[in-house]
Formats: sequence, structure tokens, C-alpha cells
Amino acid sequence: MDAIQAPIVQVVGDLIRQVPGTISLGQGVVHYGPPREAIDAARAALADPATHEYQDGLGIPILLERLTAKLNAENAIDLGRGRKLMVTAGANMAFVHAVLAITQLGDEIILPVPFYFNHEMAVDMAGCTTVRVPTDDHYQLRLDALRAAITPRTRAIVTISPNNPSGAVLSESSLREVNALCRDRGLYHIADEVYEYFTYGSARHASVGSFAGAEAHTISMYSLSKAYGFAGWRIGYMVYPEHLASAIMKSQDTILVCAPVVSQVAAAAALGVGRAYSEPHVRELAEIRDIVLGQLGALAPLAEVPAADGAFYMLLKLNVRSAKASAERSDPMTIAERLIREHKVAVIPGPAFGMTDGCYFRVAYGALQKETVAEGIGRLVKGLRAITQG
Ligand SMILES: Cc1ncc(COP(=O)(O)O)c(C=O)c1O
Repeated sequence: MDAIQAPIVQVVGDLIRQVPGTISLGQGVVHYGPPREAIDAARAALADPATHEYQDGLGIPILLERLTAKLNAENAIDLGRGRKLMVTAGANMAFVHAVLAITQLGDEIILPVPFYFNHEMAVDMAGCTTVRVPTDDHYQLRLDALRAAITPRTRAIVTISPNNPSGAVLSESSLREVNALCRDRGLYHIADEVYEYFTYGSARHASVGSFAGAEAHTISMYSLSKAYGFAGWRIGYMVYPEHLASAIMKSQDTILVCAPVVSQVAAAAALGVGRAYSEPHVRELAEIRDIVLGQLGALAPLAEVPAADGAFYMLLKLNVRSAKASAERSDPMTIAERLIREHKVAVIPGPAFGMTDGCYFRVAYGALQKETVAEGIGRLVKGLRAITQG
């Protein structure tokens, strides 16, 4: 565990608590809670003795039924064809199950950079190695680099679209190519699609599991955390090839037994409300995104922010060389700490996402109201100017 990176959101959270009044553009959460129907269902479930007992590891029937219908209708994933569905305690747990199920000690998992920090942590904890592969200037996949990174120990390539931390929506053609590459080379394609509803403008989400021939080597993971404001209820789900059923159930049974039953009941009610619940929130986030892009654009040439079409993140690159910065003014963690202490605004430093070649920060705009985001970005702009030039 000493070799594994500390959970950065907790590290930054501790700093934020020391400086009251800090606006957090740190944690990747949404500002809204679950649908009322979910809360009512959870309340009613308390009176049902079944809520208080262990239930089947795959999930409770009503939730499995609704997820099956959703996967069919929205993701074009047919569970009848050699695939299994499991409800997990969030997509993080789905990822841990996937890694434990497909690897042996010392195996390699390819993570395009930037990656989601908990993915790297999970691979490291499983005694495996992450292989970092660069993406292009817009954080899109580079097939040549992915292909070149495959070794006899490679077990999987991970894609996250829409992406945390870059906000990039990966092109459908590149996802198809990765899926075909994995199939041809005997690898799994782990597709993290927890931000599937969060796309802006003309960007569209592509479900990797819907591609022809994907069923035998694709592990898709989803979450209610963002779509339904459900982060604290810990409900996610995964679709995986039937041949992994026994391995994944061993992991689930050992770590979790089953996802919390009251949360599953609430999730089934949320699914009953459906995607329409998130739509007004996504429209609002689109407006907030425009504000963020406009304000951060003013930082050029000191900082660059490629327009991101998805999730609720942007990855800001600080051109510290142009600011003639000293080492003290160019270390992302030092700058992040100074932004909190001196300017009361929090962002997440890039090294947590594998961005070590340059000075990067993730800006998250999902958790705040419009006015607060504008104030937070204003502080960030002022703070970055002061720290790098002052
Ligand atoms: C890419 C990605 N995957 C998974 C998760 C975890 O989601 P959950 O709350 O379902 O565990 C997150 C949360 O921020 C995420 O950004």
C-alpha cells in the first residue's frame, strides 16, 4: 500500500477543511440529489424484512429487470447473448472486480493517460502493473501507441468516455478500433461509461458493449452516482462475458456479498424515472461549462484548456515555461496547495491522473451552482496569474 498513490480527493479535502470558505472545483460530484421517487422507495423499503437481509450477489430482481431494459434500450446491449449483469457498490467496485477476475500477479493493464486515479490504484493493489499510454493533444486515443504498448503480459485496455479527468468524449471510431484490437490480441476491453449521459453540443456517447463481436471480451461499467445524484448510495453495475461469471462472483461475495439492499430498491425507483431525470441537469451543466470555458479562455497564453465535450471536467495546462516560473511555482501539488491557502479555490493536480509531463490541473464544475462556479473560476484565474507571475 505504501507504493500506491494517496486518494487525492481526500488529500485536497483535508486542505480545504483547513481553509474555510474555499470553493471546491475538486471533487467529481454533481450538485443535485436523487429523484424523490427513489427516496420514497427507500423509506418504504425500511418496513420490508427483505431489506435487512443478504440478497443475491447479482442484484435484486426488480433492479436487474430495469437495468436490463435500460441497457437494451439505451446502450443496445442485449443481455441474452453470453453476458452477465451485476449490481455493484458503484463503478469503482465494478473495476476492482474486473481487475481481480482477469489478472494474475504481475500482469499489465493499459491505461491511456490521463486516467482515473482509482483505476491505477486498483491495478496496483491487485499486484499488477499499469502501462501508461499517451493520448493526443485533445486527449483522444492514439491507436498506434496503444498497439505498441501490448506485451505478452497485457490483459486489458481501459477506456473512459466521456472522460474523467479530461472531459473528452472519445470518438466512436477509436473505441471501435480499440475493441477490435482487444479482440484480435486476446485482451479485454474495460469500458468505463459512468458519464454516458453527460455530453454537450454535437458529441454523442458510444456504448462499447454494443459493437458487433464485443460480447466475449468487453467489460462495461456504469453508475448511478452522477446520473441520478446517487453517489452516497453506492450503486453501479457491470456487464461482462459469461465466462467471467464465477470469478466476478467470488470477488463480489468476498468484498461486498451484495450491494446495499435499500440502495438497490432506491436505484430501481430511480431507473423507473429514467434518463429524463438527468436531462435538465445536463442542460444546466452545459451552460456552466460555457461559463467555465469562457473564463478559463482568458488565461491564454498562460494556460490552455482544450474544449471538452463531456462529463463535467476540464484539464487545464499551465504553460509554466512561458511564465518563467521557478520550480516552486511550477510543481502542480505546490500550486494546488497555494491556490487553496492563498486564493480559496481547490483543483486537483495532474499527477493524480498520470499527467506528469507538464503542469496540469483538473477543474470540476459539476458540484456547484452557476454563481459559485463563476466565483470559483474567477479565483482560479486570479490565483494562477498571481502564483506564476508574482
Ligand atoms: C471515470 C470514473 N469511474 C468511476 C467512478 C466511480 O463511480 P462510483 O461512484 O459509481 O463508484 C468515477 C467517479 O468519479 C469516475 O470518474
